[in-house]
Amino acid sequence: MKSFYIETFGCQMNAHDSEKVVGTLVERGYTQVERPEDAELVLYNTCSIRDKAEQKVFHRLQQFKRDTGKGKVFGVLGCVAQQEGEKIFERAPHVSLVAGSASYTKLPEMLIQLETGDRRVTGLSLDTDQTFDTPFTRRDNPHRAYITIIEGCDKSCAYCVVPFTRGPERSRTSESVMREAATLAEAGYTEIQLLGQNVNSYRDPSSAGWDFANLLARTGEVPGIRSVRFTTSHPRDFVSDIVDAIDRNEALCNHVHLPVQSGSTSVLKKMQRQYTRDDYLRRIEWMKSAKRDIAITTDIIVGFPGETECDFQETMRLIDEIEYESMFIFKYSKRPNTPALQYEDHIPEEEKTRRLMVLQERQRAIQLRRNAAYVGKTEHVHVEGYNMATAQWIGRTSQHKTLNFIDPDLAAPAEGRTLVGTYLDVLVTRAGPNSLAGERAQ
Ligand code: 5AD
Ligand code: SF4
Repeated sequence: MKSFYIETFGCQMNAHDSEKVVGTLVERGYTQVERPEDAELVLYNTCSIRDKAEQKVFHRLQQFKRDTGKGKVFGVLGCVAQQEGEKIFERAPHVSLVAGSASYTKLPEMLIQLETGDRRVTGLSLDTDQTFDTPFTRRDNPHRAYITIIEGCDKSCAYCVVPFTRGPERSRTSESVMREAATLAEAGYTEIQLLGQNVNSYRDPSSAGWDFANLLARTGEVPGIRSVRFTTSHPRDFVSDIVDAIDRNEALCNHVHLPVQSGSTSVLKKMQRQYTRDDYLRRIEWMKSAKRDIAITTDIIVGFPGETECDFQETMRLIDEIEYESMFIFKYSKRPNTPALQYEDHIPEEEKTRRLMVLQERQRAIQLRRNAAYVGKTEHVHVEGYNMATAQWIGRTSQHKTLNFIDPDLAAPAEGRTLVGTYLDVLVTRAGPNSLAGERAQ
C-alpha cells in the first residue's frame, strides 16, 4: 500500500491539514497520485459544517464502491470522521480508517496496523496539541504558506459543529509560530496566512504571553515576508489593536473577514454569538476610521430557527450600512449535537432560499458599485496564477480582490518566464461584481 490519493473538502484549515498529511506520508515512502483509480490508499479529508458538505464524502464513497473500489483501502479524515466516528464503518463498510485532525501525526502507525492485519483503525482522540509541528508539511503553493496558530474552538455558537469536530481551543507558542514564519521566508515564501477557527482568540501559552495583534504585527516584520493574511476572526475577540497593527505595517493585508451571521441582536443572542448588532458595528467603525482602506468581508446565515421577516430586514439594513466588499451567505443547516437542535421553529426550505436570493441580489449591487470605484486606479497585486481560458494573469490585491490582467510584454508564461509569485502594479480598467480586470501598469 504505497500509493495514495487525497481529496480535500472544506476550509483552509482542512487544506493545510491535508498538506501535513501528504508530507507525513511522502516522508514514509508513499507516492501521491492524481487519480483515485491509480491509488492503493484513497483518503477523503472531510468537512461537516453543513449537511451538504457532509453528504459529499458519502457520495464519493458510494461511487467507488460501485466502480473501482476493489482492493483499495479507504480512509475518512477530518471533521466528518471526528463527528461520526465508528458510525462511518456502518454507513460505508469498505472504509477501514477513520481519523480526526488531532490524530494525523499517528497516521503512519495506523496504516501499519492496517497492513499487519487490523481490519479497522480509528484515531478520534482530541486530547493532543501535536497538530501544529509537523516537520514534513508539503505545501501546495510555492509562494503562499498557511501557518496554524490556534486549533479548535471554545465559543459554542448554537448552530456550529466545529467545537465537536476540532475540539477545545489550543494555541501554539509564539516562538514556534515565529520559527515557522522565518523558515518559510528563508525557503522563498513571501505570503503567510495565519489560520485558526478563531485566530483572534489566540493566547500565547508560553511566558512571552503574546496576544493575536502582537503575533500578527511580528509576523509582518519577518524579513522576506511581504504579505500576511489571517482567517477567521470572531467579532467578540476582535480588538482595535488588530486595526492599529494593520495601519502600522503595509505587509499586513488590509482585509478583515469578520463573520456577522445576522444583523438582528435577538437572532445573535439565540445563536449564542456573544455580541450585539451594536458591538459588531463598533468594530466596523474601528476599521472604517483606520488610515488604510480596510476591506471587510463576512459570513451570513439565513433562516436560523425563529428568524422573523423583521430580523431578516435587520440583516438587509446592516449590509446596506456596512457595504461589505464580499460575503458568503448560507442557509441554516441542522447539525448533530448542536444547541440549535433544541429550537423547534424551523424555517421552511423555500423561505430560506428566498432570503438567500434577496440578500445575494442586494450584495451583488453593492459589490458592483464598490468595484466600479476602482476603475482608473492602480493596485498592487501578488500574482497567483495564469488563466489559459481568458489569457489573463490572476492577481490578488492586498484587500483580497481578484484582479485579472494582461501584460503586453508577457502575454503568457513562456520559456521559464512567469509572473506568478511576483508583486506588481496593475491599472484597473474594468469592474464586475466579483472581480476587477486591468493591465499591467508601465
Ligand atoms: N448552517 C449554515 N451555515 C453554517 N455555518 C456554520 N455552521 C452553519 C450551519 N449549521 C457558516 C457560518 C460560518 C461559515 C464558515 O459557515 O456562517 O461562519
Ligand atoms: Fe468544515 Fe469547519 Fe471542519 Fe473546516 S473546521 S473542515 S469548515 S467543519
